[in-house]
Amino acid sequence: MNQFELIDKLEQNKTLEHSEFLRLLSGDILPDEALYLKQRAREVTDRIFGRTVRIRGLIEITNVCRNNCLYCGLRKDNRNLHRYTLSADAILECCDIGHALGFRTFVLQGGENPAISAEHIANLVSNIHDRYSDSAITLSLGEWDDRSLKLFRDAGATRYLLRHETINPAHYSRLHPDEMSRDNRLRCLHTLKRLGYQTGTGIMVGSPYQTLDNIADDLLFMKNLKPEMIGIGPFIPHSATPFASFRAGNLELTLRIISILRLMFPHVHIPSTTALATLHENGRCLGLLAGANAVMPNLSPPDLRNHYSLYDNKSAFGAESAEGLATLSSQLAKNNLYITTEKGDYSDV
Ligand code: 5AD
Ligand code: SF4
Repeated sequence: MNQFELIDKLEQNKTLEHSEFLRLLSGDILPDEALYLKQRAREVTDRIFGRTVRIRGLIEITNVCRNNCLYCGLRKDNRNLHRYTLSADAILECCDIGHALGFRTFVLQGGENPAISAEHIANLVSNIHDRYSDSAITLSLGEWDDRSLKLFRDAGATRYLLRHETINPAHYSRLHPDEMSRDNRLRCLHTLKRLGYQTGTGIMVGSPYQTLDNIADDLLFMKNLKPEMIGIGPFIPHSATPFASFRAGNLELTLRIISILRLMFPHVHIPSTTALATLHENGRCLGLLAGANAVMPNLSPPDLRNHYSLYDNKSAFGAESAEGLATLSSQLAKNNLYITTEKGDYSDV
């Protein structure tokens, strides 16, 4: 079977064998084959979502984190970072600004801050929920016990983002310190599914020690999990981490994985990530043209944005920001893509 037939088979069956995924991921794929993959993925995206791009307002509620993920600038051992935690009022103010701009999904993202209790988060969620009953609340706050995840769900959060990062245990342990475990991450993901969250997972492309074999395993893991959202972005080194001297992930491979995921999951929400926009000046549009259907402009207070430094040179202003929606719209319009403020539940895409 040639690569074109393999891409058709992926579109038809919505999955492939491990060895077949490897062929699509490998550097041997020719430019016209890669182009065909992208075109099929965008055509499927057009069929399901049209030329619309969903927006989610990202509020980075704290950059304090108890963990020491080797790749991340927010890791606890990075002492050169001004740490902040937004008050409930400050978060509500971000929602007010976002709501006025047309956002109907708020993503509360943050490190695993031991000073923030589950009750505090549940309160916050229920306050936002009361104030903006027309909006969806997404959490992206790391690993919690089952009871806490249920508290958040009962308070009105309906979506949760938690990338699995890599399904391979040996690779997982090269990216994380000993006290973190892949199994706890998977436990959280399964709890989220069981509690009825629209669940997001995903990986970094080109993280240190990652092989194409790992990525093929990640694709098959996601096939099994059936997430409603998938976050895919290139790894980008951060100078104050042990991975400072590693290379950033590859743009073409990241785009190819977005396309493969779109063919595997026609209805899944795939944001074109900030990391992609940071890696390449046109990264955001390239991600959308490869099959992504959402963007997450930054709604955090502008004076704190630079402190949420997951990796070096992270974009947070201009088209990457909530106040830059007009700039974003005009970039998108050049590609015949248009922002929609639809909440876009998985069930009513
Ligand atoms: N490069 C790219 N993405 C990163 N993340 C953390 N550090 C980096 C980095 N250096 C991503 C991880 C995590 C999310 C919060 O940000 O995938 O899940
Ligand atoms: Fe903390 Fe998340 Fe960064 Fe890990 S990736 S150090 S859990 S903020």
